[in-house]
Amino acid sequence: MTETGSVVVIGGTSGLGREVARLYAERGRDVVLSGRDKDRAQAAASEIGGRTVGIGLDLAQPDDIASDLAGVGQVAHLVLVAIERDENTARDFDLARATRLVTLKLVGYTEVVHTLLPRMDAESSIVLFGGMAMGRPYPGSTTVSTVNGGVTGLVHTLAVELAPIRVNAIHPGIVGDSPYWAERPQAVERARSRTPGERMVRMQDIVEATAFLLENGSVNGVNLRADAGWMLM
Ligand SMILES: NC(=O)c1ccc[n+]([C@@H]2O[C@H](COP(=O)([O-])OP(=O)(O)OC[C@H]3O[C@@H](n4cnc5c(N)ncnc54)[C@H](OP(=O)(O)O)[C@@H]3O)[C@@H](O)[C@H]2O)c1
Repeated sequence: MTETGSVVVIGGTSGLGREVARLYAERGRDVVLSGRDKDRAQAAASEIGGRTVGIGLDLAQPDDIASDLAGVGQVAHLVLVAIERDENTARDFDLARATRLVTLKLVGYTEVVHTLLPRMDAESSIVLFGGMAMGRPYPGSTTVSTVNGGVTGLVHTLAVELAPIRVNAIHPGIVGDSPYWAERPQAVERARSRTPGERMVRMQDIVEATAFLLENGSVNGVNLRADAGWMLM
């Protein structure tokens, strides 16, 4: 993989994004991680250590994204991980929350790509985060399921449009040791028991799969299901 440029993790202050940032920091790479609040992002960056810096950026405010990213230099790998959890249903629809999540995941992710594109080269690669809620809805997942479906389409168009830059997505199942689901052990257990091998998906699995998508030159336009086979049962 290219060693020129930094690894940028949008949504790197917690959960899966933080662990992806940590992997590349431990490999000695320049890492830029973001969260909504600059101080929190800088605190996460200094906890991770190495050559990691933190920046503030709110994907739900897409007009500001270009200026928020002004200090970022050449980009080797871009990982778009951020989410704000929106528990929403069509029967009891919260418009403001739904609009915020759709803006964040679809418009915000794309605006980051648009802004950083001139700082990427032919060896650069991008990974977007979706999730299995698109095919395995749970109560309140209406907007999350919708935006995950949007990520699937976004990967297809970006892989064609941005070539030779490679663009892939990862769609995790319920990641049992991630901060959000670790507080919901019954849901984790339900998902685990519905996989062929009764295996829980772990953060380490998703970090390794993300690195594979970023680094393997033959993988392009893929929406990778990383759910221990949950979708089959
Ligand atoms: N965890 C799972 O089991 C699971 C399953 C399927 C899919 N996924 C997907 O994997 C990704 C990561 O999930 P996670 O559980 O690791 O998430 P998480 O721990 O909740 O972390 C979310 C990250 O997004 C950032 N963020 C939140 N709102 C933002 C905004 N408006 N603008 C910019 N950044 C924002 C947060 O930073 P601040 O709070 O510092 O702003 C944080 O760094 C998500 O895209 C999610 O859909 C996760």
